[in-house]
Amino acid sequence: MEIELLSQGSNLKRRDFLHFLGISGLSLTTSNELLAAMPEKNPSQLASLPPTILDQVTTLEGLNSNILIRWGDKINSKEKFGFNNDFIAFHPLSENRALLWVNHESVNSLFINGPERTKENIDLERLEVGGSIIEIKKSKSGWEFVKESPLNRRLDATTPIPFAWPEKIMDSPMAIGTMAGCAGGYTPWGTFLSCEENYDMFWGERDRKGKTKTQAWMKWNEIYPLPPEHYGWVVEIEPKTGKAKKLVSLGRMAHECAAVTRAKNGKIVAYTGDDTINEHFYKFISDSDDSLESGKMYVANLEKGEWISLHLADQPLLQKHFKTQTEVQIWIREAAKIVGATPLDRPEDIEFDPLTGNVLVTLTNNKVNKNFHGSILKISENNNDPGSMKFSHETFLSGGKETGFACPDNMVFDPIGNLWFTTDIAGDAMNKGPYEGFGNNSLFVFLRSGQHKGRLIRVASAPHDAEFTGPCFSPDYKTLFLSVQHPGEESSSIKELTSHWPNGGSGLPQPSVITLQGPLLNKIISGKL
Ligand code: FEO
Ligand code: CA
Ligand code: CA
Repeated sequence: MEIELLSQGSNLKRRDFLHFLGISGLSLTTSNELLAAMPEKNPSQLASLPPTILDQVTTLEGLNSNILIRWGDKINSKEKFGFNNDFIAFHPLSENRALLWVNHESVNSLFINGPERTKENIDLERLEVGGSIIEIKKSKSGWEFVKESPLNRRLDATTPIPFAWPEKIMDSPMAIGTMAGCAGGYTPWGTFLSCEENYDMFWGERDRKGKTKTQAWMKWNEIYPLPPEHYGWVVEIEPKTGKAKKLVSLGRMAHECAAVTRAKNGKIVAYTGDDTINEHFYKFISDSDDSLESGKMYVANLEKGEWISLHLADQPLLQKHFKTQTEVQIWIREAAKIVGATPLDRPEDIEFDPLTGNVLVTLTNNKVNKNFHGSILKISENNNDPGSMKFSHETFLSGGKETGFACPDNMVFDPIGNLWFTTDIAGDAMNKGPYEGFGNNSLFVFLRSGQHKGRLIRVASAPHDAEFTGPCFSPDYKTLFLSVQHPGEESSSIKELTSHWPNGGSGLPQPSVITLQGPLLNKIISGKL
């Protein structure tokens, strides 16, 4: 989620909309992978959704969307599905049953009990964030939420969660709650990872001397003075029990996601990005082949093509600034800068290319550096080994007018290597200035084989102010689960809503998980487009 100061929603004029439609879709002649992969043949038949400004989920013909669960739906006798759903992970129970983990990244006070910072309001908001575990089952018409499942449960900002670390964090063995969970990951041993990103909106942030660096604009800290150092971690969750722990081993930052794989020697490797302008890209190499609790963090220096250790015992330079590894883990951004980490344009989601083994990282944008449209970075580890200490890098795809997308965020590959990705243009910037002509945030697919190899198509568009997040395929790839996050976030009041999705009329907007299915999806994933 891009955090911006929110302003009144933007309504495009008719001539702007016609201008969108005048853009010749996404017939691409651009750099990077697109140019390299362009086929000889002119694939004129390929359909792509034009940019839209409609307050609905718009899909390309042959792709059907249905709501699986929405904000406020009861998941058991006491708990409800939370607000602003993001990352989705799929944990199979059997061929026709599964558990989904869904992050609830943030909450908009306007839609809960109002903006007043009373204890009553903040207590209500604390129940809206964290995550949900919900059971789903496959029927003839597709996947459905199982309302009565005993496995349905919530984790929220009140749930005690221990730190998986030998030392206490700010004098405590546990944190109260998880929130700001953006994207995440899934481990080979079947646990979910939820990544705490913009925790400072709730708790603020301070430096090592205790001086305030960022104010908490949600002001939860005024009612509950909890240490910001208890947030900004990767949280590991067991699907069936909901038992959770915070992985201090992966450092504290605005974690976007944690993408897990194995080094050639079998050790677990987790890549993670710090989604803040000019922050860094990291990887963790575990001491173990079945745990993330203990190991070493490294940060990327792209100029040298090297992973630099953030392990105190390896780094005399760090020993001048930090007394313990615990301090390094808490202030890992500072440690990364000391050892020469490369500043990046908001590293967000990370995926492994099934065709090449490369690691792809979305760099959403960097407005300070006037990079408004972002790109997707390709990291090639030496010997294709995630355990390597050296790598090369290049741009995989660039956002911009030529390619027709801006601000790439969450990604997922299908089994034949097509790259599906979503965009995150901030609600208050959408369809204005550098984003004029891009329409609403969308889901794109970059085709990697067949007659349309090298083409990029927009397959779905989100409602007003929303972004699609958390794309996640079912194991048979016939369903794509997708979050519709923060529709109507630019609303200035309940009386002046900028979105009424999904109910229409004068209804409140409701963040929801949707499913995408249909013949178009089946054609794309089978390479028969
Ligand atoms: Fe929550 Fe970086 O997006
Ligand atoms: Ca994101
Ligand atoms: Ca992803």
